[in-house]
Amino acid sequence: MPLAIVDISGCGDDGDTVAFEYEDGFGRPQKGFALRWQDRWYAYQNLCPHWSTPLDEHGERLFDPTSGVLVCATHGAMFEPHSGECISGPCYGDSLRPLRVEVVDAERLAIHRGGLGL
Ligand code: FES
Repeated sequence: MPLAIVDISGCGDDGDTVAFEYEDGFGRPQKGFALRWQDRWYAYQNLCPHWSTPLDEHGERLFDPTSGVLVCATHGAMFEPHSGECISGPCYGDSLRPLRVEVVDAERLAIHRGGLGL
């Protein structure tokens, strides 16, 4: 049973992101996002390991295609899109929590617990 089914019919270009919501193992609502990058999909919980705020708390863009990194708008932490590892900023070395992506078809992703990219 997936955590979420994500509509990607309007996405597919490098750097596109799509937000979704799901429930964690305790039934608490969580926010996540999927990222299309270099012909693969990745998904992470949308929660910065620094202050536990959404990366795009004020509606900012999650991904900077020019530098190829995910960015937390609060204090500027940068995360590697393939691993979620923070490569610059106050939570250097920490990581976003990955979610496993299953490509259902050209228009849908199924999001599962754990894992990286597909
Ligand atoms: S909350 Fe993300 S860098 Fe501080």
